[in-house]
Amino acid sequence: MNVQNRTVFSNDNLPVLRGIDTASVDLIYLDPPFNSNRNYAAPIGSEAAGTAFKDTWTLSDVDNAWHGEIADREPALYQAIHTAELTHSKGMKSYLIMMAVRLLEMKRVLKKTGSIYLHCDPTASHYLKMLMDSVFGKSNFKNEVVWNSATGVKNNVKSRFGRGHDIILFYGMPKSKFNIQYDPLSEEYLKSHYTYTDEDGRRFRADNLNAPGTGGHRYEFLGVTKNWRMTEEQARQWLTEGRIVHQSITPDSRVRIPSYKRYADESMGRPALDNWTDIGALNSQSKESTGYPTQKPVALLERIIKASSNEGDIVLDPFCGCATTCVAAERLQRHWIGIDISPRAVNLVRVRLEYEVGLLGDVIHRTDIPKRSEKLPNYRTHKHTLYGEQEGLCKGCRTQFPFRNMTVDHIVPTSQGGTDHEDNLQLLCGACNSTKGQGTQAELIARLKAQGVLR
Ligand SMILES: C[S@@+](CC[C@H](N)C(=O)[O-])C[C@H]1O[C@@H](n2cnc3c(N)ncnc32)[C@H](O)[C@@H]1O
Repeated sequence: MNVQNRTVFSNDNLPVLRGIDTASVDLIYLDPPFNSNRNYAAPIGSEAAGTAFKDTWTLSDVDNAWHGEIADREPALYQAIHTAELTHSKGMKSYLIMMAVRLLEMKRVLKKTGSIYLHCDPTASHYLKMLMDSVFGKSNFKNEVVWNSATGVKNNVKSRFGRGHDIILFYGMPKSKFNIQYDPLSEEYLKSHYTYTDEDGRRFRADNLNAPGTGGHRYEFLGVTKNWRMTEEQARQWLTEGRIVHQSITPDSRVRIPSYKRYADESMGRPALDNWTDIGALNSQSKESTGYPTQKPVALLERIIKASSNEGDIVLDPFCGCATTCVAAERLQRHWIGIDISPRAVNLVRVRLEYEVGLLGDVIHRTDIPKRSEKLPNYRTHKHTLYGEQEGLCKGCRTQFPFRNMTVDHIVPTSQGGTDHEDNLQLLCGACNSTKGQGTQAELIARLKAQGVLR
């Protein structure tokens, strides 16, 4: 890995991501702007005062070359974005193009054992899922986590239900690690499942000891002969240890077949599901609130980091805001890298890490672009830029074509003194290019009209 642990970059994350070595990161969490059509600013007087970011997108925010890069590297991804433009808007297209070029880089930097969590909301989550399926592979989709982030939110809209959740799209590469997380047993669950109480007040449930199918060990135990899942020796040991419950031992017991006493206080809890209701969103009164707009709770990041990484692993947050991911990763003994375009964010990162985890001098602040150990591909050719400028449409027949079917044409042919300057270049589909031949653009249009291709 060519970037040191505990580095925060103040920069646009695209060039920084492009500078990070391939297959070097274990876990990525990203909480990008959601295309929520809002501009966020931290309140005056808060730790984060002065921090702001824009969350509205137009085509002018998008570099033309990115269209071509996506269409070149991932034609299916480009089509998904095009569909979003048709069904939603050009604004959505611009947002998704901004996201897609970055997701392609995240895929590249992720290890074969890595995982990625994309935090979003229903404004764009359905389009982002198509992007994630294209980039990371639909078979690597793990969960759509619904995080109940509604604390304190009032529903002022009379025409629909209030919106109370964010969505976190979780993808893991085929060999990704996963550590099961457990939810504590709720009172309701304890009441319905742990229905017995011991003499010393400990709650337990009576676990069935039947052997599965026709297997197991057949013998008589406490007057019952059947196929048990444990050996007779094990059964006798549990009996001496007081782990067996049966009416022959406690006459008033309702348990008619000897069963195993599973105590509630020994349970790790229930394996967590994909709807997270136990982690509250922050408000201005929360102890950990810095005032940074859209700050997420550390507990949320801790769950993600614990589930999908181990100590010493590298966690990357390319939209790190006020460093929630970095704080959580530091607490859990993971290595981390944060990137945020806002120069204010890094100061907040420093303050917070010093305050919350006692880290001061150890944070490395960089404003440059890291240098990748391997050779960088050619991300930006005239063809990429032209594809974006023309939004994938041929300059002759005006039909949309995949990147690979486009050819670069000299508007004024070189035989007539035309130069290689970008202003003299355009993209034509193969058919229009051969129709134009050494002719001029006006001649091409006239021919297409004569052929009935254009009106
Ligand atoms: C939703 S906030 C992230 C909040 C963060 N999860 C936290 O808990 O503080 C999105 C962040 O993305 C940053 N951002 C937006 N565009 C960016 C870009 N191109 N490169 C890096 N950071 C960017 C913004 O400055 C903002 O801090």
